Amino acid sequence: MNRVELAKGIYHVGAVDWNVRDFHGYSTPRGVTYNAYLIVDEKIALIDTVKAPFAGELLDRIRDIVDPAKIDYVIVNHVENDHCGALPEVMKHCPAAKVVITEKGRQEAAKLYGGDYDYMVVKDKDTLSLGKHELEFIPITMLHWPDSMTTYLKSEGIYFSNDAFGQHICTAKRFDDEVYMPDVYYEAEKYFANILMPYARLIGRAIGRVAGYDIKMIAPSHGVIWRSHIGDIIARYLAWGAGKPEERIVLFYETMWGGTERMARAILEGINKAGVPATFYRLSASDRSHIMSEVLMAAGLLVGSPTLNNGMMPAVGDMLTYLKGLRPAGKLAAAFGSYGWSGGAQKDIEEMLTKSGVVLEEGLNLDWTPSAEEIEKAEAFGYAFALKVKAKCAPVE
Ligand code: FEO
Repeated sequence: MNRVELAKGIYHVGAVDWNVRDFHGYSTPRGVTYNAYLIVDEKIALIDTVKAPFAGELLDRIRDIVDPAKIDYVIVNHVENDHCGALPEVMKHCPAAKVVITEKGRQEAAKLYGGDYDYMVVKDKDTLSLGKHELEFIPITMLHWPDSMTTYLKSEGIYFSNDAFGQHICTAKRFDDEVYMPDVYYEAEKYFANILMPYARLIGRAIGRVAGYDIKMIAPSHGVIWRSHIGDIIARYLAWGAGKPEERIVLFYETMWGGTERMARAILEGINKAGVPATFYRLSASDRSHIMSEVLMAAGLLVGSPTLNNGMMPAVGDMLTYLKGLRPAGKLAAAFGSYGWSGGAQKDIEEMLTKSGVVLEEGLNLDWTPSAEEIEKAEAFGYAFALKVKAKCAPVE
């Protein structure tokens, strides 16, 4: 078994789930890692566990270094099952360990896992000496759960950042300078969009809280460990968190007999004529999590559906339900689509877009299949929408 050492006596002991393809609705075509870390000092601390089915792999990696029974502290940065599902099994092997956790985390863990553990509840900036090393605990409440906490190892400058700075990608190596970085950056952005977007406004403040810290390594709970691109990923997080939209449009739609698709293609022509970059997705052939990664920074959204049974198509409802939960505030958005003898889809879409926090613009609704004149109208609609996006993104004089 290969040992992965972050610094002397500090190990990655987590698991690599190469084959998982869905993470509560978030597609993971490259799999997921559940990172856990072991610090061996006068006292021994385990930072986080793994998803329950991987408890055996975690314990084997620990056993390769120390007897799990010698663990003094199990630090629970986050109670969600991908980090904590193996906690009951791990605690059977280190029954004397204290569980270091926030008060919110303690309440959640008691309900989720039911164990009567020896809890050590910590607050903001509390510290814990392991001997040579000292840990500091920094809660990041609502990034993205009430219990979420991070842990800083001062002596080595390692920031155990929990879900923050994570990526859902499996790689054979554990560090950023050992892997193909364009894939990692793509997955980091997708992760931010699909997990952290609703709380993006909290990012700047959370990063500000460790601004003066000497961080030599960011060790997240998912994906690769950052040691050579720290400044870059922090800059990207600040930009994603600030949410300043870029001059781009994401268009997604579903079609029944092709009328709404013809509209979508004409709208794209209009957007192209205005010179605004755009991406184009038929939802039944696309991955909603990937679309969200593009929505993150795009200034404009266009959503199309024909009317089916007085409402929108199921694939559009799926996407908009997901979008509403992630709350991409402040973007311009509009609905379009064709209908037969009565409408309904556009109203459904507009209601969902309004609940998503976007700025709703006037949409375009056409009956039956679009005529040549109506195709021109759709192109003009796309052109006009793109100009609004341009105006929104224009620098303030
Ligand atoms: Fe990685 Fe919030 O779970």
